[in-house]
Amino acid sequence: MKKIAIFISGRGSNMKAIMEQCQHGILKGIAEPVLVFSNKVDATGLDYAKSQGIETACIESLGLKRAEFDRQVVDLLAGYKIDFIVLAGYMRILSPVLVQAYPKRIINIHPADTTQHQGLHGYEWAWENKLPETKITVHYVDEGLDTGSIIAQGTVDLRGAENLDEIERRGLAVEHKLYSETLKMILLGTR
Ligand code: GRF
Repeated sequence: MKKIAIFISGRGSNMKAIMEQCQHGILKGIAEPVLVFSNKVDATGLDYAKSQGIETACIESLGLKRAEFDRQVVDLLAGYKIDFIVLAGYMRILSPVLVQAYPKRIINIHPADTTQHQGLHGYEWAWENKLPETKITVHYVDEGLDTGSIIAQGTVDLRGAENLDEIERRGLAVEHKLYSETLKMILLGTR
């Protein structure tokens, strides 16, 4: 069983989906969430994690230099013997301090094809460009902004979607499924 830390900054719907799969789904016996970490004290996802009896930790990143903050994160994680860090709506670019401490062991989900669109507002980008479909990307994390190697992608059919909410709703449904499926392959070493 691999120990994972899930990193969030906000509502944490991907975190919730992963935790459910760990409890009674495809990640049962494969992944054990030992920590939910946030860089925002008011991340609402922390409440859900606590309600599930998962340990939570927060270091407020506001005002700290990237490397200084990540050094504190690495020190915090050292106590947990984490195998993988799973970023789930974690709104912060990682510095080499953190990336090099967990080489090929930090994973992210991005709401667009990272070869086409990096950074924020992936669903807005799909909506504004009237794309008939978009791709969700699960990738390894390096020091760039959504530049790490791609592990898996899932297609979201956007035809007939009438507004941004609908785009996001369809996209998140794919995210929630794709992330756990991909994590399973990574953790089992089949990907
Ligand atoms: C998701 O769209 C994810 O792809 C992106 O940030 C959003 C986080 O949503 N990285 P949630 O906090 O998991 O609900």
